[in-house]
Amino acid sequence: FDKMELPPRPKLFDFHGVSMVHFFTQNWENVQNFQARPDDILIATYPKAGTTWVSQILDMLYFGQTSPERLTTLPIYERVPFLEMTIPNLVTGKDQADELPTTPRLIKTHFPVQFVPKSFWEQNCRIIYVARNAKDNMVSYYHFDCMNQGQPEAGDWNSFFQRFMDGNMVFGSWYDHVNGWWKKKETYSNMFYEDMIEDTGREIDKLCTFIGLSPSAEEKEKVTSGVQFDNMKNNKMANYSTLPIMNFKVSPFMRKGKVGDWKNYFTVAQNEQFDADYKKKMKDRTLQLRCVI
Ligand code: A3P
Repeated sequence: FDKMELPPRPKLFDFHGVSMVHFFTQNWENVQNFQARPDDILIATYPKAGTTWVSQILDMLYFGQTSPERLTTLPIYERVPFLEMTIPNLVTGKDQADELPTTPRLIKTHFPVQFVPKSFWEQNCRIIYVARNAKDNMVSYYHFDCMNQGQPEAGDWNSFFQRFMDGNMVFGSWYDHVNGWWKKKETYSNMFYEDMIEDTGREIDKLCTFIGLSPSAEEKEKVTSGVQFDNMKNNKMANYSTLPIMNFKVSPFMRKGKVGDWKNYFTVAQNEQFDADYKKKMKDRTLQLRCVI
């Protein structure tokens, strides 16, 4: 793994109407034919919306008592496989998911809703979609593309800003992703990054209700404190520091963990342009994402 020669940065291309890179499309047939089990839990997000945070919460809730060694010996990407991931010389996310020994299996995807293997719906799996306000999501994605050799070049901030609005990102347009999932909201549970920042304990309670767990007060406290930003940032098994494809000197994976960091990047003119465009693309008023709290 450490000796793995880093592949060149991938290029974006159109895949069934969504801009993608080959790392997430090459195993398409196998991924589409993935056999879900009724107790599987799928964590679905647009990249940088809080995937790792919710993954760590779920893993701690389910296995923190019964197999705590998992949490200290296995990195998050082994505990919660990334279903569509297909990087040369690494086991595919699909094979990892097939071989997961846990019940339930926790599985991560960044697919837009129309790409999710149909077995998850047929088996009535519990699905959790995490969304984050577009402005912070964009800023977080920018830093991620700067530091991650597995992503296309980020370019400068101004061009990234335009590309994000145009939907030329890995896993496509944020707007299409969030709108597409929102249309199916009756079939899964939604979580919002901003709500988790506001009151992590409250959101963990809601999550527990959805998945049918009732941890003791002590267990819950352990999870809540274990997933605080600084604790996850310092946790080698949650912070991705073991992946050579990411260059933490450029930017750490656990970067800031804040709501409203966009204000440090958007110019006044960009903010106006963004808001006008957002209004056109996000017509469903039942979906309200908070970019300040
Ligand atoms: P920032 O880049 O804004 O800091 P994902 O896991 O979907 O890739 O999302 C990564 C983003 O979630 C990063 O945002 C990261 O810092 C943030 N994050 C991860 N764990 C967090 C936590 N425990 N509390 C707050 N933010 C967290």
